Amino acid sequence: MAAKRTLIAGAHCVLPSGIQAVNVLIEGDRIVGIDPPSTARVDEQVDASGLHLLPGCIDDQVHFRDPGLEHKEDLRTGSMACAKGGITTFLEMPNTKPTTTTLEALDNKLQSASEKCVVNYGFYIGATVDNLNVLKAATRTPGIKIFIGSSTGNMLVDEQEVLEQIFAETTLPICAHCEDETTVRANQQRLAGTTDITDHSRIRDHAAAIIATKRSVDLATRTKHPFHVLHVSTAEEVEFLRQRPAWVTAEACPHHLLFNVEDYARLGSQVQMNPSIKTAADNEALWQGLRDGVIEVIATDHAPHTLEEKSQPYPKSPSGLPAVENSLALMLDAVNAGRCTLEQVVQWMCAAPARIWHIERKGQLVEGYDADLVLVDLKRQHTVRNEDQLTKSRWSPWHGCTLTGLPVTTWVLGQIAWKDGQLNADVRGREATYAR
Ligand code: DOR
Repeated sequence: MAAKRTLIAGAHCVLPSGIQAVNVLIEGDRIVGIDPPSTARVDEQVDASGLHLLPGCIDDQVHFRDPGLEHKEDLRTGSMACAKGGITTFLEMPNTKPTTTTLEALDNKLQSASEKCVVNYGFYIGATVDNLNVLKAATRTPGIKIFIGSSTGNMLVDEQEVLEQIFAETTLPICAHCEDETTVRANQQRLAGTTDITDHSRIRDHAAAIIATKRSVDLATRTKHPFHVLHVSTAEEVEFLRQRPAWVTAEACPHHLLFNVEDYARLGSQVQMNPSIKTAADNEALWQGLRDGVIEVIATDHAPHTLEEKSQPYPKSPSGLPAVENSLALMLDAVNAGRCTLEQVVQWMCAAPARIWHIERKGQLVEGYDADLVLVDLKRQHTVRNEDQLTKSRWSPWHGCTLTGLPVTTWVLGQIAWKDGQLNADVRGREATYAR
């Protein structure tokens, strides 16, 4: 039996060539026509007039806590939150329990995801001080994650010799959490005994970020190794990255663009993250870095902890905040505020992550690509509410914020996973594949 053909009619589509009012035809799990002839067979038509059609977003940095920390999140709830937020593919970090640092742990996550995930998925292989052979053998992964600077979980790789070996002897792209451990520890000692949440940004300070970013970019430059700097948080890193070689890329997160140290007074540990939030000047430098193409990706670093865990006094409160279900809406709000264009948002959240991680057939509205799509209403206002969140942690640091612009329908491989406030929990995503 021929697969059903659905025409998404009347939307303004964000195509690689720009925004155009064209119809898009999907058949089964693929896009089969951009502006198809009116004679094309159509089984069903979706009226999308007044809306914008985007490729589904690819979030290349999430922590879904499964296995081992499922009281915070699991692959099912994390992927549901993605569908709501217009994210059709996520790449997940290895600091679960057990860590994804063996081929067996990677295979287990992929198997579990095939059973639970509403959207498409991929999992990084995590570096340790002694798993070089695993990093060389892994194939079903977008790349290698290194914690050059410790964060949640015990995955620090700080020895120069080990880092040199990983960069020199592996071929998968590498991404890293860059905060200098020596600097962080010295700051911790200096501020020992503090319970002041604002000290989080003094402990994980500007120096910690720039030292580690310089160190890792130096490794990538000497070895010519494809390298992605995760969650850039400082103006100094943006300036430094202006001189980066072509094979080094970088990303920013909504919380580093939108929150700064002034927000501790209102939100306390809800905005405690690693790297820490910095100053208003850093917010502006990150926006400028995006507009200048120095930073190419926006990802969330979705890192849920329960509100109970977060409400412990600093420094017992864990670092991390949930964001996948609001990141695209936040960026649509930024479009409405004149900070960036919709085409830029599609570059940062769809096309660039697909390119950097070599994800096949995703990130653009192109014939033959996967029908991972999101329809957004640029003018719809809504208020983010903790009680509406699908993340298992059930809170958002943007609770109470009214945003303009909302993802309204999400297709995953041609199936509607989210529409007008309703989740279709029967949809299943697939493992992302990588062109190598
Ligand atoms: O704040 C953070 N929390 N930053 C990270 O890099 C890890 C994350 C987590 O897993 O909780």
